[in-house]
Amino acid sequence: MFEITAVESFSPSTFLWEINAPEIARAARPGQFVIVHCDETSERIPLTIADFDAVKGTITIVIQAAGKGTLEMMAYKAGDRISAVAGPLGEPSEIENFGTVVLVGGGLGAAPVYPILRALKLKGCHTISIIGFRTKSLVFWEGRFRRYSDESIIVTDDGSYGEKGLVTQPLKDIIMERQINRVIAIGPLVMMRSCAEVTRPFGVRTIVSVNPIMVDGTGMCGSCRVSLGDEVKFACIDGPDMDGHLVNFDELIIRQKRFVKYEKQSLALYEKKCPK
Ligand SMILES: Cc1cc2nc3c(=O)[nH]c(=O)nc-3n(C[C@H](O)[C@H](O)[C@H](O)COP(=O)(O)OP(=O)(O)OC[C@H]3O[C@@H](n4cnc5c(N)ncnc54)[C@H](O)[C@@H]3O)c2cc1C
Ligand code: FES
Repeated sequence: MFEITAVESFSPSTFLWEINAPEIARAARPGQFVIVHCDETSERIPLTIADFDAVKGTITIVIQAAGKGTLEMMAYKAGDRISAVAGPLGEPSEIENFGTVVLVGGGLGAAPVYPILRALKLKGCHTISIIGFRTKSLVFWEGRFRRYSDESIIVTDDGSYGEKGLVTQPLKDIIMERQINRVIAIGPLVMMRSCAEVTRPFGVRTIVSVNPIMVDGTGMCGSCRVSLGDEVKFACIDGPDMDGHLVNFDELIIRQKRFVKYEKQSLALYEKKCPK
């Protein structure tokens, strides 16, 4: 059993868990994820490790309630215990002194960007962060981002905080005026695809973190396959980080929706059983 040591709510649908998991915290690297299994009846949910503290023995995950499984997670409080946390899974992000790196986080994607930003800053990179949210009330971890960013930009779709617009606009402005050695973009698939399209004409290496539907998380089921150029890769063992200029986003977006009918049925049953 794993104890949830802290719960923090960021908005009505986004929240943070800190979990006591000393072995995972010791082994975790930026870019990796865990699969959480709350109890024997719940789904296996892949979630990125948004922070880890080897001394304290904890990992942090940030969750967006997207369906039945993640809605069930919202009911847990600090001190509760969950059945299983498997990880760290996936390949760690490449961390080197690349020079000037732009890190782009869209919505909840800001959480997985954070440990990569911190590690790159500590390696000596010049870090520029761009984080984007729909509106001011959804902004989280601004202080953490500023601490490890040489330059930091916040945008909101509706202009209620920071600059108005999408993350792609400041990304384009920066790429057009200066030498950028690498871009890391994490967020919804359409946002990562747009970032990759902004950087493609400039030939700036662009890493995205793909999140296809995963089952085992260990390379055996094939659910998380991604077409990368002429190759087929499995995001759980070859990724989640991948070259954004090679990922077939169109296929990924279609595959991401393949169980929507069942997800809707499952959510409807859950809402009937547990009305708000
Ligand atoms: C490597 C990886 C890291 C992720 N990190 C985070 C994170 O840090 N925070 C976060 O909130 N979410 C993260 N996700 C997405 C999260 O796993 C899904 O939102 C969650 O599984 C949805 O389950 P559900 O029962 O609540 O919703 P459902 O109603 O079952 O599904 C809602 C949508 O979530 C996606 N989804 C469903 N099941 C899975 C699955 N097994 N694997 C991947 N996607 C699924 C599908 O697009 C689906 O349409 C990550 C996914 C992957 C693969
Ligand atoms: S989740 Fe099964 S192969 Fe990746």
